[in-house]
Amino acid sequence: MKYLVTGGAGNIACQFTHRLPSDAEVVLTDVAEAPFSVVSENSTYCRLDVTNRDEVESVLARERPAILLHFASLLSGQSEADRETAWQVNMQGAFHIFQAALKYNVDRVVFLSSIASFGSPLPDPVPEECEQWPRGFYGFTKASIERMGYYYKETLGLDFRSIRLPIVISPYPSPGAASSYASNVFISSVREGRYVLKVRNSSNPALIYIEDCLKAIDLLTHADAAKMSRASYNLFSCAPTAEAIVAEIKARIPTAEIVFETDEKIADLIDSWPRQIDDQAARRDWNWSPDFGLAEMADDFLSVLK
Ligand SMILES: NC(=O)c1ccc[n+]([C@@H]2O[C@H](COP(=O)([O-])OP(=O)(O)OC[C@H]3O[C@@H](n4cnc5c(N)ncnc54)[C@H](O)[C@@H]3O)[C@@H](O)[C@H]2O)c1
Repeated sequence: MKYLVTGGAGNIACQFTHRLPSDAEVVLTDVAEAPFSVVSENSTYCRLDVTNRDEVESVLARERPAILLHFASLLSGQSEADRETAWQVNMQGAFHIFQAALKYNVDRVVFLSSIASFGSPLPDPVPEECEQWPRGFYGFTKASIERMGYYYKETLGLDFRSIRLPIVISPYPSPGAASSYASNVFISSVREGRYVLKVRNSSNPALIYIEDCLKAIDLLTHADAAKMSRASYNLFSCAPTAEAIVAEIKARIPTAEIVFETDEKIADLIDSWPRQIDDQAARRDWNWSPDFGLAEMADDFLSVLK
């Protein structure tokens, strides 16, 4: 089995390589010089800019992967700051990937959407069929790519599947994500003993620990197509307030100095994202259930960081 990963140098991709079968061939591709963190031994790396249609075509023609994990993206903060590049990477990049996947008979395309594809005001919990009217450019691209993938699935027969990831708590958060505060508050508390939060103490967007995130991507990637009732799935783990996260960190690192200096623009964007989310379809169709709540996440993440 051959897997090809776009955005393969990034946070989630590098960590996901360790979840893939050890006898699989894993081809990581990205515009970066090299992977940002340690990858599995069965991974190779090559440069691929998804904005370049000819490059996408020639890499797929050469590699002929069975499964294409399309993770390349500009994240929320970068997308808002540079809509032109976000359009090229997210929208144009996805179009090139879908076109080449069809042309070179890729069996399956897995896409990482985001809870940022929703917009406020939102029902709590957010139902699976909730209309997606995102407030940010990044969320707009994610909602649009879900629709693009749906077209390739329903009209052209490509096995497209995606999940709307909550904010991922990880040791390698992308600096380009407005949501990176949720990882950095843990990381900086361990490494520097202090952190300034730009969100509100009441901000409580849905979060997921990296271990649960990797588990969900693994389950989705390998789910039986016959059991899948939809193309894009909601995913939920927990939605603690920033204040509750600070309390968990301080219970374990009493000397940590964590203060709130709310930036209204950042806080408004984060507070427009979902809190509780209905993910019954993922639970039913591919046995999803999270292993980490806030306390378990704090225990595990802080010990990993230390
Ligand atoms: N981390 C989160 O909290 C989160 C939440 C929801 C969804 N997601 C999605 O998961 C995916 C992976 O996110 P991540 O956290 O690993 O982010 P990341 O920024 O670490 O990874 C994205 C990768 O895309 C690459 N990239 C950018 N432009 C490219 C181009 N033109 N061609 C090829 N590669 C390019 C970057 O170099 C980077 O390595 C993204 O699609 C992101 O939108 C992440």
